[in-house]
Amino acid sequence: MSQSPTSLYLTEVMGLKRIAAMSVTAPESMPRHVAIIMDGNGRWASKRHLPRFAGHRAGVTRVREMVRVCNQRGVQVLTLFAFSSENWRRPSQEVDLLMGLFISTLRRETRDLHRNNVKLRVVGERSAFPVRLQEQIQAAEAQTANNTGLQLVVAANYGGRWDVADTARRLASQVAAGELLPEAITAEYFGRAVCLGDLPEPDLFIRTGGEQRISNYLLWQLAYTELYFTDTLWPDFGEAAFDEAVLWFSSRQRRFGRTGEQVDEVRVGEG
Ligand code: IPE
Ligand code: IPE
Ligand code: MG
Repeated sequence: MSQSPTSLYLTEVMGLKRIAAMSVTAPESMPRHVAIIMDGNGRWASKRHLPRFAGHRAGVTRVREMVRVCNQRGVQVLTLFAFSSENWRRPSQEVDLLMGLFISTLRRETRDLHRNNVKLRVVGERSAFPVRLQEQIQAAEAQTANNTGLQLVVAANYGGRWDVADTARRLASQVAAGELLPEAITAEYFGRAVCLGDLPEPDLFIRTGGEQRISNYLLWQLAYTELYFTDTLWPDFGEAAFDEAVLWFSSRQRRFGRTGEQVDEVRVGEG
């Protein structure tokens, strides 16, 4: 049914009021899993006539802040894209500096993560990393393994296509060994076998830096995620910017294929 301009206007005003009335810290409006592409470090540095690496270093400060904010707000999982499988294509000097930054950041931050009850997991093909980094990752994961607060996932040398192909390969070898029937490989089964398959799916995806693309991030896992893009460069993305993203998220109606009316009915039934 079509609506008159007046009723459309009222709907708009009431919608905005409802959004404004919602507290961004209310537990029901908080996504359980936030997945971020931290983009724009290089441009942040260039704007200041600094080398790109200065942007990556400034980005680490925001990582620390985002971990604190998500932990405080009761977000269960924060997944950060730190290095894509395509980032090896960058100049070797930048790649080396990034590896060095991972190592020093892990060494410096693990104790604080542990103290704040954060559990760390790194996903991606880590065998390509310098041995020292691999050892550091293993030690940090082991130290924080029993923590019960925020689960911090760092996607490093990660690619969504790698994730899907790697899962297919693992399941195929189980089939070849007679341990798994091909018919058992349903979407649900496959979804539990990809990276993060044991965690709630991402509710909110954030990409900073202005690009509106997925860049081979969590291809399987983002199937029903709300996608939020902002021009803010990662080193400028602080607590207020995060709140804005969560406010936007809380105004979305997640239908998962149903109609809006069906979703409203369920809400009324729950209330
Ligand atoms: C994201 O920032 C960080 C990594 C990919 C490691 P960029 O380095 O891509 O920054 P821009 O996009 O060049 O500004
Ligand atoms: C995506 O950013 C990867 C990370 C933030 C780690 P990129 O800057 O590498 O993505 P593209 O190349 O612009 O798509
Ligand atoms: Mg970039």
